[in-house]
Amino acid sequence: MGTKNIFNEWGIIITLLLIALPIIVASILAIVKAKAIIKNYLEKKEQERFNNYVKDLTPIEVEKLEQRKRALEFALSNNELSGKTQPVDNKGLIDNISTVETLRFIEQKKKSQPRPYIEPELSKLIIWYLGCATFWLLFGTTVGEYLGIKFVAPDVDHYSWLSFGRLRPVHTNAVFWGWASLAMMGLAYYVIPRVSNVPIASIRTGYRSLILINVSVVLGSLFLMAGINNGGGEYREYIWPVMALFGIGVFISLRNFFKTIAKRTTKEIYVSNWYIISAMMFLLVIAVVAYWPSWQTGLGETVVQGYYMHQGVGMWFMLFNLGLMYYFLPQQLNKPIYSYSLGILAFWAQILFYTLIGTHHFIFSAIPWWLQTVAIVGSAGMIIPVVAGTTNFLMTFKGSWHKLSGSYTLPFYLIGIIFYFTGSLQGTAEAFRFTNLVWHFTDFTVAHSHLTMYGIICFMLWGFIYTIVPRLTGKEPPQITVGAHFWLALIGLLFYTFPLMYGSTLRGLMWMEGTKSFIESVELMAPYWLWRAIGGSLMWLSHILFAYNFYVMVKRKDKITVPTSPIDILKAKQELDTQAQTN
Ligand code: HEM
Ligand code: HEM
Repeated sequence: MGTKNIFNEWGIIITLLLIALPIIVASILAIVKAKAIIKNYLEKKEQERFNNYVKDLTPIEVEKLEQRKRALEFALSNNELSGKTQPVDNKGLIDNISTVETLRFIEQKKKSQPRPYIEPELSKLIIWYLGCATFWLLFGTTVGEYLGIKFVAPDVDHYSWLSFGRLRPVHTNAVFWGWASLAMMGLAYYVIPRVSNVPIASIRTGYRSLILINVSVVLGSLFLMAGINNGGGEYREYIWPVMALFGIGVFISLRNFFKTIAKRTTKEIYVSNWYIISAMMFLLVIAVVAYWPSWQTGLGETVVQGYYMHQGVGMWFMLFNLGLMYYFLPQQLNKPIYSYSLGILAFWAQILFYTLIGTHHFIFSAIPWWLQTVAIVGSAGMIIPVVAGTTNFLMTFKGSWHKLSGSYTLPFYLIGIIFYFTGSLQGTAEAFRFTNLVWHFTDFTVAHSHLTMYGIICFMLWGFIYTIVPRLTGKEPPQITVGAHFWLALIGLLFYTFPLMYGSTLRGLMWMEGTKSFIESVELMAPYWLWRAIGGSLMWLSHILFAYNFYVMVKRKDKITVPTSPIDILKAKQELDTQAQTN
């Protein structure tokens, strides 16, 4: 294996293609720039030719030009029609201009669309979901930030409660079940009744579900820090009674959604509801499979672990978010989704392939070779739903790209879609045998986890939250802090993941060569872990800005505006007069 040419491997080829994408974009930019330089050069030449022509002009030609200049400079006195009287703006045309365009420091983004009527009780419920989700994002990523720092300063503390092994699952479970899951469900409470055209079946159930999920994450985190865990694989470290609370929470909301959809006044069930309902059903299936008592030992447990892990990310987070995207994207662009049938094709292809790929987490393990091969083939098959979904979203954007620069939500959507394509195909590349041999035990997997869970899921969720909260509360977030949130999160993510991918490839190849000791590979990673801590810090800062924006959207008091225009002043006087009369 050691002498094999790695560039003949499909996984490496796909990864290089994905890396080539930004390089191609940069090359296009370079070509555009080069064209501009050549154009500039040709224009200079033209100028020289012109100067020579001017120098050689005869007096007759000069006279002709001056005559023409005089003719062109002829102007009216500008009071031919009005005479000498003073101008008066009787029709209020000039007074009506109330804004003066000045040079902008930042682009002025469009305000959110006018709000449709949403029952105030439902608005409150959704805001509670999103508020709790924001809290868990802050909590979970503060823990993640601390974990990242521990890679750079391993001796920073010596408390068992704060040890790496305990805090790592606190981070992953809090961001999974507390942040992303609560945000998704809160948004579903908005989408399901909207596309079914009926009110939600029960708001009270919504609160019960919210409480159950919150209690499960609080207890789960405390137990994990105290060292009480399931002992099993990743993302199912909560003990079963705690996970049961989460499962019941999702189950009762699922029933609530079923009841709402059953009462719908639309003929079709819109594609968003297909995705959302299936995601919730899958979550319950995988949670039962993951905790089923007789599947907790031996090799079977490993198969179950792979199944659980990948259905968790693919059939819960990804499926749910795709469903939300099918509602929010057309709505934001104010046009229908490019192709409804492509959406349905992507749905069934995802169900077919995603459910087969769990064992790609355990390539070269003792699991039967054929089962591993099925997972690899399924991972390649995932290209179908991913390409179908991405095409559908990008084609919906077609003709509306100009809206991107005037909107503070659409850039989040676009980045989520781009990472959906690149992050997922990166997963396909990782599943091949050769690449898995290089990357499996390295931090490459961690980079992939964040490119997907963060690049896809978080960016989409932020876009959706910035879309609906102003509609629920009528308050916009400050545009500058939304922009800062976006850029810090994006740049932070790139700093976090790219160095990790590069360092991990070197590390994996070093292991395969087999000539260096393990500790040398640890030393090799030190600078890349530092980059991760820097990137993580930028991401963490961006979450504080997001929390601030959320606070502003929910809590900011309506600004007192003193009327300045004559119409508003008269209106205010009228109101005051009527108030005085009634008192
Ligand atoms: C400030 C932002 C964040 C930082 C600094 C951070 C940091 C970390 C660190 C240090 C690890 C442990 C890696 C290891 O064991 O080598 C980790 C794991 C993980 N984090 Fe984060 N994280 C952040 C945000 C998030 C978010 C928002 C999500 C999901 C929504 C997430 C999902 C995960 C997952 C799934 C893992 C397990 C990775 C694996 O086993 O491959 N992280 N994170
Ligand atoms: C075409 C779709 C995808 C494929 C084929 C794929 C493939 C893979 C593979 C092969 C691994 C295991 C790497 C290893 O341990 O050696 C992996 C890990 C992971 N993937 Fe994906 N991936 C895909 C999409 C996604 C998406 C959409 C998400 C999240 C929304 C995601 C989240 C994760 C996470 C969190 C892990 C780490 C699991 C762990 O802790 O070991 N993946 N993926």
